[in-house]
Amino acid sequence: MIQYGLGSTAGLLLTETLDFPEKKVPDFLVGCSILSARQPEGIAGFGRGLDSLPSQVGAKKFSYCLVSHSFDDAPVSSDLVLDLDSGSGKKTAEVSYTPFRKNPTYYYVNLRQIVVEGKHVKVPSEYLEPGSDGNGGTIVDSGTTFTYMERPVFEAVVKEIGKRMANFTVATEIQDLTGLRPCYNVSGQDTVSVPELSFKFKGGAEMKLPVTNYFVLAGDGAICFTIVSDNVVGTGLRGGPAIILGNYQQRDYYIEYDLEKERFGFKRQVCA
Ligand SMILES: *[C@@H]1O[C@H](CO)[C@@H](O)[C@H](O)[C@H]1NC(C)=O
Ligand SMILES: *[C@@H]1O[C@H](CO)[C@@H](O)[C@H](O)[C@H]1NC(C)=O
Repeated sequence: MIQYGLGSTAGLLLTETLDFPEKKVPDFLVGCSILSARQPEGIAGFGRGLDSLPSQVGAKKFSYCLVSHSFDDAPVSSDLVLDLDSGSGKKTAEVSYTPFRKNPTYYYVNLRQIVVEGKHVKVPSEYLEPGSDGNGGTIVDSGTTFTYMERPVFEAVVKEIGKRMANFTVATEIQDLTGLRPCYNVSGQDTVSVPELSFKFKGGAEMKLPVTNYFVLAGDGAICFTIVSDNVVGTGLRGGPAIILGNYQQRDYYIEYDLEKERFGFKRQVCA
């Protein structure tokens, strides 16, 4: 599900019978790696494609709660739950839901507003609404590490954060070192209050991110914003979704993909 870094893999495809206590899945397609470099030991696809794990087992729903690792290797893990039975549309207690948009490949959601410390960040609708050309819109992707925002969206958010962090010096050296931006020098401060960040989705579901999901301590006395963009200035050059909600921002949330009701659900939860 989560892949850190890039590498290369070689292998073969084969089919197996998956044996669950209450269900057998014949002809389960699996790739077997015979050679890999700098790769995790296993990768499972959770997309909408026919070969993904949920598609192949016929899951009606799946959920996970990603442990907040912050790049350590602590042997702490959490469960991935594949629900094979029809839930008859029941909601999970305390979970906020927003509908998925119809799409054969990605899990598109309708992100309506990005809010920084109570201020609605102005984002042109062409980024929030997917166009017929396939550009724009927001997807949820457990396989992307840091949340990605297309440049104009990213700049608008960063500008608003910058206003609230005006009393801190931008730590340019740390920015160059980490590739993250903005980074602030907070050395010598006992407590640092950073602006709140929240995502508001269609249907009223609101994801108020815990600070550790969008700022990380970096180097000696600096903090860096952990949402990323690309270097393409302007619009339409990159294409595809304008916003990708990655796994770093999903940490310490119970996350549910309800494939029967076609909705995305989440609630804050300490995952381990
Ligand atoms: C910066 O510090 C001054 C003086 O302590 C304070 O009045 C002001 O509100 C601070 N600005 C921000 C953006 O926090
Ligand atoms: C932060 O500022 C202090 C004081 O100016 C400086 O000594 C330190 O090197 C800076 N740290 C970073 C990470 O830029």
